[in-house]
Amino acid sequence: MSLWHKHAIFEKNSIVLIIGILIVIAIGGLVEIVPLFYLKNTIEKVEGVRPYSPLELAGRNIYVREGCYLCHSQMIRPLRDEVERYGHYSLAAESIYDRPFQWGSKRTGPDLARVGGKYSDDWHRDHLYDPRSVVPGSVMPAYGFLRETDLDYQNIAQDLKVQALLGVPYTAADIENATKDVVTQSTTDSPDAADLAKRYSKIQARDFDGNPNRVSEADALIAYLQLLGTQVDFKLYDDKANIR
Ligand code: HEC
Repeated sequence: MSLWHKHAIFEKNSIVLIIGILIVIAIGGLVEIVPLFYLKNTIEKVEGVRPYSPLELAGRNIYVREGCYLCHSQMIRPLRDEVERYGHYSLAAESIYDRPFQWGSKRTGPDLARVGGKYSDDWHRDHLYDPRSVVPGSVMPAYGFLRETDLDYQNIAQDLKVQALLGVPYTAADIENATKDVVTQSTTDSPDAADLAKRYSKIQARDFDGNPNRVSEADALIAYLQLLGTQVDFKLYDDKANIR
C-alpha cells in the first residue's frame, strides 16, 4: 500500500481525522507554548520598575475594590492616536508586579497608565470627592467617602508576604517595616523618608489627601495614582532602544 492510500484512512473516517487533527494541534501548541515557561527573557526587565510600596499597594487594593478598572484601562496601545494622547505605549515590564493586572477592557474614562504627575494631589482629592467640581459634565461617580475613611493597613505586611510568595522581590526589611512605611510615605517631611527612599526608588512621600492628622483611603489611592507610569525614564529608554 502506498503512502497515498494510507492517507485514505483519514479521509474516509471522520473520527480518525478528528483525532489526527487534535494530535497535530497539540504538538504545535506544545512547541509554541512550553518554551515560554522556561525562557528567562519572556518578559524583559526594564530599569526603574520596582515593587509597590505598602501605601501604593494599599491604594491599588482600593482601586481594585472600587472597580475603577471597569471604566479605566491601564494599557496604552502602540497606536499613534493613543501615544499622542497618553504618552509612550505601555511595556509588559510595567505590569510585572501587578497581580492581578489592571489592563482593563473598557474605557468609559481615559487610560490611567501614565496619569502619575499629570495633576496635583489637590486635583485628585477634589476629583475623587466630586468629579463634577473639576471636570464639568464628568460621568465618573463620586468617591467622597475615601478621604473620610481611615486606611486599614494593620495587615499590610501580610499583603506584602503574599506578593513575595508570588515572586515580587520584597526584602525582609520591606516586610518588617511595612506598617511603619505606610505612615512615613503619607507624611510630609518624615524623618524616616530617606530610609524609605533607599528601599523604593523615586518614591513620593507626602501627605497626599491634605489632612495630616490621619492616613485615609484617599492618601493610599492618590499615592498609587501619582506613581502610575512614572517609573520608567523613557528618555533613556528610547535613546537605547532607538524606537522609531
Ligand atoms: C462609571 C465609570 C467610571 C468609574 C467607575 C471611575 N471613573 Fe474615573 N473617570 C471616568 C470618566 C468618564 C472620566 C473623564 C472625566 C473626568 O475627568 O472626570 C474619568 C476620569 C478620571 C481621572 C482623570 C484622568 C485624566 O487623565 O484626566 C482619574 C485620575 C480617574 N478617573 C480615577 C478614577 C479612580 C481612581 C476610580 C475608582 C475609585 C475611577 N476613576 C472610577 C469614569 C469613571
